[in-house]
Amino acid sequence: MTDSHFKSKKLDSIPLEKGSFSWQSPSNIALVKYWGKKDPQIPMNASISFTLSTCNTRTTLIYRKKERPDNKMRFKVIFEGKPKPEFHPKVEEFLGRIHAYQPFLNAYEFEIHTDNSFPHSSGIASSASGMSALALCLMSLERKLDPSISDEYFNRKASFLARLGSGSAARSIEGPLVVWGEHSAIESSSDLYGITYPYQVHEVFHDYQDAILLVDKGVKQVSSTVGHGLMHQHPFAKQRFQQANDHMKRLIPVLEKGDLDSFIQIVEKEALSLHAMMMTSKPYFILMRPNTLEIIERIWAYRRETGSKLCFTLDAGANVHLLYRNDEKDLVKTFLEAELAAFCQNNQFIYDQAGRGAKEF
Ligand code: PMV
Repeated sequence: MTDSHFKSKKLDSIPLEKGSFSWQSPSNIALVKYWGKKDPQIPMNASISFTLSTCNTRTTLIYRKKERPDNKMRFKVIFEGKPKPEFHPKVEEFLGRIHAYQPFLNAYEFEIHTDNSFPHSSGIASSASGMSALALCLMSLERKLDPSISDEYFNRKASFLARLGSGSAARSIEGPLVVWGEHSAIESSSDLYGITYPYQVHEVFHDYQDAILLVDKGVKQVSSTVGHGLMHQHPFAKQRFQQANDHMKRLIPVLEKGDLDSFIQIVEKEALSLHAMMMTSKPYFILMRPNTLEIIERIWAYRRETGSKLCFTLDAGANVHLLYRNDEKDLVKTFLEAELAAFCQNNQFIYDQAGRGAKEF
């Protein structure tokens, strides 16, 4: 499939005057990480993530037909009830990129009302949930203008559009496990959009838990755009992309059999490899904080002492995601609150779990 598949039908007229659509879209946490891309937002390796449920963005898109059509994108962003001009450049860039696939956008002016379920500046990336929620609202508008589009096309194109806003957003439409990036061992996988993981998944992963420890809520020293860019001249880039693709393949029997020991090995190695890339790029940087390491050490000690299958992963930041099976929930809660919460900023953490994807509301 090429990107021309996602160009919307030519409409003879734009019949809708005004209205609104609302979508709630989740964040996701990658097990195999995407780090490194080429234009236009094409990943250098395949990745897979758990779609989350509690951490999400709720967006309402209000559209009104322009009185005098022009070639400008006209919109306002209202975040948590207040105008947020700081978000304009990112949204403008996004709308500019997707205009080729939804040329009807210029016929409207938009108000984008958006809220996150997680605290602002918590260090939880809101780009995946935010861009996917907006992409879904825009797809609802497209479907209203062209009711013939199928549910499958709707979801694929929502993921395709979301990807153009933020790569990892391509994995936030469906759930609970989503693959993005072409991989020879994964049928129908694509660089252009995310797909629901197509093979058998052991029941232990159906309701996997993710507790997010908010270690450092500060603004990131290096944006993910800059970070991805540093992979271009990175001396270990080729090996890294190969490693990620190997991990994708190794995960297939692990997910099928519920082999948690191998799952832990792959997931923790992925997290540390992502950070190893940052620590060896030019310029190099460290996003982990001392408390990130303290938490990791304690997870390892807890595992040694109890035989637990708790493991961790990291995003491009200092926060730690604890991943564990549902039947360890009570034990992990006790451990987290007694031993790990003290290493979180203001003792803050969020209990989340694998979810089914975005919902219209
Ligand atoms: O979606 P972006 O461009 O912000 O990239 C995010 C990449 C990581 O979160 C670090 C890893 C991933 O695969 O989600």
